Order: sequence, then C-alpha cells, then structure tokens
Amino acid sequence: MSAPPRSARRGFRTNGQDVGVRIYLTGASGFVGSNLTYVFERRGAEVIGPSHADVDLTDPDAVLRSVRDAKPDAIVHAAIWNAFAGLLSDRRKAWDSFVVATRSVVDAANAVGAHVVLISTDWVFDGTQGPAAEDDPPNPIQTYGVLKALSEQVVHDRAERGTVARIAGVQGVHRARPATLREQDAGFGYLVASVVDAPSAARSRASPASRACTAHARRRCASRTPASAISWPRSSTR
Ligand SMILES: NC(=O)c1ccc[n+]([C@@H]2O[C@H](COP(=O)([O-])OP(=O)(O)OC[C@H]3O[C@@H](n4cnc5c(N)ncnc54)[C@H](OP(=O)(O)O)[C@@H]3O)[C@@H](O)[C@H]2O)c1
Repeated sequence: MSAPPRSARRGFRTNGQDVGVRIYLTGASGFVGSNLTYVFERRGAEVIGPSHADVDLTDPDAVLRSVRDAKPDAIVHAAIWNAFAGLLSDRRKAWDSFVVATRSVVDAANAVGAHVVLISTDWVFDGTQGPAAEDDPPNPIQTYGVLKALSEQVVHDRAERGTVARIAGVQGVHRARPATLREQDAGFGYLVASVVDAPSAARSRASPASRACTAHARRRCASRTPASAISWPRSSTR
C-alpha cells in the first residue's frame, strides 16, 4: 500500500508555526480523510493523522496515548473498516472497528477536552425519508448502516463535546492515492450520476430541437454508468 500523505504521518504538523486549530484526524490516508486533510491544511489547521499501523483504533489504550500525545483541539473520526462483505463475515471485527473504535475516540476526546466529530452516512436511513431532519430516528437496512447508527449513538451518549456529520455519495479524487481516481466512484457514485443525468436526457427528448443534447446526455450516461456498476456496492461501504 502506498504511503499516506505527508501530513497524515504521525507527528507531522502542517504549515510550520502560525497554525490554527490542531486536528487529530483518524483515517487520514483514506478517501474522505485525505480530502479532509487537504481542506484543513488549506484553512491553516494543523493536522495530525496517525496511520492505521501507528494507532489501531480498536485498541482504546493506544488511542488514548496517541491523543494525549497530540493534544488536539478537535478530533475528526473518519476511519472505517471499509469491507462490506467483511462486516457480515466477521461480526467481532465489524463491531470493534465501528462501535469500539468510536468509543475509544470519544473517550480520548473527553480526556483531553477536545471536540469530536464522527463522519457518518445517510445510510443510517433506509432511503425513503429524504429529506430527513437531523432528529429523525435512523432506520438502517443493512449492517453498515446499523453499525454507523450505533456509532452515532456513542457520540450522542458519551461525547462531552460531540458532532455527527452525515455525508453521502462522496465523489472526487482520492488525494492519498490519486491513481485510484475512478475506483471509489464505482457503484453508488455512478448510480447517482446516472440518476442525475436521466431527467435531463428525458427533457431533451421532449424537444426535437435538442436531439444533439440528448445524444450528448446518453454518451455521458453510458460513459459514467457501465451496466456492471449499477448495483449495490459489494466490496465497499459508502
Ligand atoms: N466514501 C464515501 O462516499 C462516504 C459516504 C458516506 C460516508 N462516508 C464515511 O466517511 C468515512 C471514511 O470513508 P472512506 O470512504 O474515506 O473510507 P476509506 O477510504 O476506506 O478510508 C478508511 C480509513 O480508515 C483507516 N482505518 C480502517 N480501520 C482502522 C483501524 N482499525 N484503525 C485505524 N485506522 C483504520 C484506513 O487505514 P488503512 O487503509 O491503512 O487500513 C483508512 O485510512 C467513513 O466513516 C464512512 O462511513 C464515506
């Protein structure tokens, strides 16, 4: 596996002196984490993002030691065991990687007085509630959603200063591994693109003057949406 971004290495601090908020970021080498690192750095924050090898989040003592060492103002918890099938086949690891890890991070945040932000997902819902209010009860329909809903509850119940940030269908460049640009979009990302494109294609068909647009929309749809990609992701959790 390739190295995490420079700022994701343990102890690396961005921008030398004159830094703003100090952020301890879990999952800094991941898709979302590497983008958070990019944004935080541009805003002048100091990012400390230990790798998985440095700190296994399922080990509460290791997390506490590392967070005490870093003395962050805030912790953003973006790490996840990203294995859709694994969540079903290894329930102990799934529980530890989601719920125990979140509890470890929250307890460590409490110990140093840091605000903790859990990156969560719209998959805590079943897909029929949109637009959901923040306090709508979750209704997850698969293991990933259940584990994320439970992790959210850990933050609600335990964090002295906590926030849950639900994000959805993230697309773009994996900043730690730019070569895998399209890989993370396979599945849900392509599905979203096809849904967004479909109404505009239908509108174009209604107007004879816009056949060229229709053809263009179809090409975009076809190039973004291989038939094999329009399926529930089997090997990744989104
Ligand atoms: N991507 C999306 O479209 C999307 C949508 C909605 C919500 N989210 C949420 O965003 C968060 C990040 O997702 P992602 O797509 O960025 O995942 P990702 O690319 O697979 O990154 C996961 C990160 O977590 C680390 N990690 C895994 N297990 C760990 C452990 N036990 N201890 C320490 N680090 C560990 C991984 O390190 P290694 O690779 O070294 O194991 C990696 O850095 C998740 O909470 C997910 O629910 C993502």
